[in-house]
This record gives sequence, structure tokens and C-alpha cells, in this order.
Amino acid sequence: MSQIRVHQLSKSYGSNTIVDELDLTIDEGEFVVLLGPSGCGKTTTLRCLAGLERPDGGTISFGDRVMYDAAGRADVPTHKRNVGMIFQSYALWPHMKVRDNIAYPLKVRRQREALRSGAVERAAEMVDCGALLDRYPSQLSGGQQQRVAVARGLVSEPDLVLFDEPLSNLDARLRDQVRTQIHQLHQRLRFSAVFVTHDQSEAFALGDRLAIMKDGKLEQFATPQRVFEEPSSDYVAAFIGMGNRLDLVRHADGWRTGSGAAIDLGDRSPVRGGADEVTLRLRSADLHLHRAAADAPAGSSVLPATVVTTEFGGRHHDVLVDVGDARLSLQADTREHGAWLSAGAEGAEVFVSFRSSDARVFGPDGRAVEALGSQVTISGSPVGTL
Ligand SMILES: Nc1ncnc2c1ncn2[C@@H]1O[C@H](COP(=O)(O)OP(=O)(O)OP(=O)(O)O)[C@@H](O)[C@H]1O
Ligand SMILES: [Mg+2]
Repeated sequence: MSQIRVHQLSKSYGSNTIVDELDLTIDEGEFVVLLGPSGCGKTTTLRCLAGLERPDGGTISFGDRVMYDAAGRADVPTHKRNVGMIFQSYALWPHMKVRDNIAYPLKVRRQREALRSGAVERAAEMVDCGALLDRYPSQLSGGQQQRVAVARGLVSEPDLVLFDEPLSNLDARLRDQVRTQIHQLHQRLRFSAVFVTHDQSEAFALGDRLAIMKDGKLEQFATPQRVFEEPSSDYVAAFIGMGNRLDLVRHADGWRTGSGAAIDLGDRSPVRGGADEVTLRLRSADLHLHRAAADAPAGSSVLPATVVTTEFGGRHHDVLVDVGDARLSLQADTREHGAWLSAGAEGAEVFVSFRSSDARVFGPDGRAVEALGSQVTISGSPVGTL
């Protein structure tokens, strides 16, 4: 086994193109996270990889074995692909004990030696379910059921493990536990994986690389650090937590918002001759609240704002402000601002500030623009592989 390659994969239902000439590679032992909004084609892509769905075009190969080739008419059935699958709904057989559920992939593939040598027990131990082998799924908690499903997905040492939002049905605390367990198993066993989610924190925590999908295509394919620091488009930035958006226009003396406030883009300013209208994106954590403009740190952009709502969040308050016709969210430190925010700050005239180094700038086409600081350039191919 070496690299898994998806080339120009396409799948339509009727006149709707769901997967659109998708290219994706998964290196041996790599954990790729497929991230995107509902309906963008994540599950359909996984089902094509597993052989549960017949694509309309393109190729899928595992190492030098061609699993699907529209032109060459290859289409290897699911049970001959050696793929493990873990679903959101656990999908355990209710009439089988945990032992038989985990053993199922070995039986289907007639891996008798693995069955005899204790592979089922080892897989159960791996996910701390060794004591549950003689129970039925109905006698397990949701977290235990999903751990059994993980054991079943890994027991046959598959070439590729596919996860379709496996943590979404678990409550917040269990979700973190099972996520950590999957991460540790991958560190130890180094299986190749594609993990589907629409949760950015899951994606950052687990992925060696993130494949961010939009309308059946990849928008960016890069390491979590790269995606976090340099989202390649406005779409990616919005999806990975840069929810604040400001539209700017170039004036003779620099950049201004629609309401006329000056913005210093510093190194992030587009090269001359580039766009004259840009979109700026910021994370809530990078936008700071002040009662007076003079309180803002030197060198940052300062904007007059009006408080819309505030919510207590423990160490911080979540605050919504209006800056001209843009609504922005930020987190204000409770120790600094808690007293006056709790006293009812709606309608208060305030200031917000940010550093240009925390902002990302996108052109009218939604792509990251070429900036003055050369190392932040992302241009050309929308799919940067780092
Ligand atoms: N068998 C089918 N017949 C017709 N349309 C389908 C079929 N399966 C999926 N679709 C459509 O294809 C689109 C993509 O579906 P898919 O399940 O791949 O999305 P997804 O990215 O996994 O979304 P979610 O995050 O909601 O699970 C959706 O609009 C869906 O309605
Ligand atoms: Mg899905």
C-alpha cells in the first residue's frame, strides 16, 4: 500500500452534480479531514471511496491497485477494497454481541488466522471495550457503541479507514474523549484515513491535512496550520472561524470601510495595481473592545462601534457590535470589561481595534489577494498543497 489517489472524481444525481472533478491524495498513514458545509458532497465522496456508490467519472486507486476507473471500467466491490468504515449512527448489528460485531469484517473477508489469533480481543482492548465483548449493543452507552464501531473499523487492518462524522451524536464531553482516542490510535497504528466533519475544532485537532470542500470540489488542501494562518479564500476563512467581515474600498489615502473609517492593512495591503475593493476577515478573538479610542494599542486600526448585545461566557463576554453596516462579534475579557458589560451595555458607543497581522484580505473573486508582505502570498492554484 502506498498513496491513495482520487483523480477527477465526479458523481451526479439526476442533473445535480454533487462531486465535481475532485482531486484528492491521501499519503500512506496520513489522516485527511474532509471539511465542508452540509450538502457539499462529503458523504458521497466517502461512499465512492468505499465502493458503496458508483461514480460517473474519474479514477480511484489504492497504491497501484485501480479501484475505480470510468474509462477502463474497473469497479472493485466494497468487500474487496479492504476499507474500514465508521458512521455517525454507529451502525452496529443489534442482534450480534460486541464480539461478533467486531469480528464481522474478518468473517466477511475470511481472515480466519486473524480471528484465531485474538484480533477481535486486541481491537476491543484498544478502545477500552475488552470487558464488553459479551454484551449486545442495546446494553451499551452511545460512547461505548461508537468505540466498538471504531474497533470494528480497524480490526482488519484496512488500507483506508473512512469516518463519516463519527462524533456528532455524542455529547460534548464524550466527543472530546472519543476524539482523543481516535487521535491516539492513529498516532500508534498510522492507518490512512479520511475523516468527514463540519466541525472546525475536530478538523484542526485530528487532521494531518484538511481538505475543505465547496460544491463538490476542493477549495483548499493543506495542513491545519496553513489553513488557519492563510485561508486561500473568503469561503475557507468564514468556514474556519473568521466570522467577522468588513468590506473595504481603496481611497487616495488608504483603505476605508463603507462608513468611512480608515483601516491600516500594513503588510496585508494588496499590491498596487491589485484590487480596489477587498473583503477583510477577522476572528472574534482578534477583535478588541475599548471604551475610548486612546485605549487601543498603538499601530492597530481603531473603529467606532455600537454595542448590540452582550452575553456572559465565563472568562469573557460575547459581544456583538455594529461598525457602520457591518455586524461584528468579539470576546471581551470579563476581568477588564465585565462590570459595565453586565450592567447593560446595549447601545453604548465604543471602539474596536485589531492588528493588520491578524486580518486576512480577499479580492472581489473571493481569493486571498497578493499582499505587500511577500511570504503571505497565495495566488495561482486555489488548491495549495503544502
Ligand atoms: N441517493 C441520492 N439521490 C439523490 N440525491 C442525493 C443522494 N445522496 C445524496 N444526494 C444529494 O447530494 C448532496 C450531497 O449529499 P452528501 O450526503 O454527500 O452531503 P454531505 O456533504 O455529506 O452533507 P452533510 O454534512 O449534511 O452530511 C445533497 O444535496 C443530497 O441531497
Ligand atoms: Mg454527510
